[in-house]
Amino acid sequence: MATTAATVPPGRQIPSHVPPELVYYAGITESAEFLAAPHKFMAELHGKAPPVFFSPSEHSHASWQLLKYDDAFFMLRHPEYFTTFGAGPFPRDPDDYWRIIPLEIEPPEHRKYRAIVDPLVSPKTIGTLEVSIRRLANELIDRFVDTGKCEFAKDFGRPLPVGVFLDIMGLPRSMMDEFVRWAMGLLHAQDRDLAVRTMAEVTAYLETVIQEKRANPDGGAVSAIVHGRPGGEEMSAKEVFGFVFFLFIAGLDTVFATLNNIFVWLAENPDRRREIAAEPDNIGNVVEELLRVFTVTFSGRTLIQDVELRGVQMKKGDRVTAVLPSANYDPDVFPNPQEVDFHRPRKPTLAFAGGVHSCMGAHLARLEIKVCIEQFLRRIPDFTLGREAPISYWPGGVVGPKAVPLTWT
Ligand code: HEM
Repeated sequence: MATTAATVPPGRQIPSHVPPELVYYAGITESAEFLAAPHKFMAELHGKAPPVFFSPSEHSHASWQLLKYDDAFFMLRHPEYFTTFGAGPFPRDPDDYWRIIPLEIEPPEHRKYRAIVDPLVSPKTIGTLEVSIRRLANELIDRFVDTGKCEFAKDFGRPLPVGVFLDIMGLPRSMMDEFVRWAMGLLHAQDRDLAVRTMAEVTAYLETVIQEKRANPDGGAVSAIVHGRPGGEEMSAKEVFGFVFFLFIAGLDTVFATLNNIFVWLAENPDRRREIAAEPDNIGNVVEELLRVFTVTFSGRTLIQDVELRGVQMKKGDRVTAVLPSANYDPDVFPNPQEVDFHRPRKPTLAFAGGVHSCMGAHLARLEIKVCIEQFLRRIPDFTLGREAPISYWPGGVVGPKAVPLTWT
């Protein structure tokens, strides 16, 4: 089951406390097999890889990988062992470090930062957005419904979450195209120069907006952060930036990827589309089940003290990744895990992680997914994948298709 030293990418050191039989290079997020069908790949890792293994290069860091639901949950619920500090994938100057907030703040301080923005994304507040999300969904569909085709990701799956996000942040919808371009340039450029240029543009824009909201407070999230006082203390300029920037990073690509994955599947499964349309009251379960099978991201941590998990000794300083998409296919928790079952007994999934850092935008994301499925199926009940298929997927830590060509008559 373990790999040989020859398969370890050059330059990757395996710490001496890692037993050779637990070194396994699976290729999550980057191998050709993964990129051909990422969710099938992550489901089938159970049974192929050890439940806890050490990968020399997964997600660009040598780290322990946790496939089992219970182990992932253990990691997420024990910040006294597993810290988020340094978890962000953005290269930052160690001498001028800025934290991505709230992810890189640990308890008890963490609660003070979440309290600043949680009211803006509570179920009650989010519920009031349903009408405007539905309106935006309709406006986007109006643009292509009569043409008999669309590139779903470009025409719907990206602009919709960006529009909703701008409203929540208190930023103008006129920035929609720029935000789509920035999100793609920063996270999927596959060109370091473009990513650096995009980061400079995003930074300049966010800094201007931060100044503006300082002078003119409003009801949006940027203003709440700028004027927020965690524990009564003013935040530094770096903290404010790290907070606003992280919402941009966390709240866009994840929703793009989830919607795009779901619509590939809907296009391929006409019977299941009809099932969803025939049971409108079951839409909540539909959304949960699709979030389970199309979990798009991972949780990364670093150990701040030694720990033993499933008999495996891990040491302070080791990196650990909860492979959330695999955990949501754990057959011990979700029987017949690859079957999409809208009547599955409810069990919390790890699509939005868990523990103190569980996703702040989960209620919003669920509502966006629900409204998109309902509205699209209502207006365009029958569609298939266009000729440009097969679908190809982005490498990296947010798993989703690059493009989703759809056609209908
Ligand atoms: C389907 C869409 C989404 C998915 C799958 C998703 C997934 C996740 C996951 C797995 C985490 C935990 C990260 C970790 O443990 O390291 C997380 C955290 C977070 N997410 Fe989301 N997310 C989504 C949408 C959003 C949206 C729309 C927003 C903002 C409006 C958002 C804001 C955040 C924030 C701020 C955190 C950090 C929470 C903390 O540290 O306390 N997410 N998300």
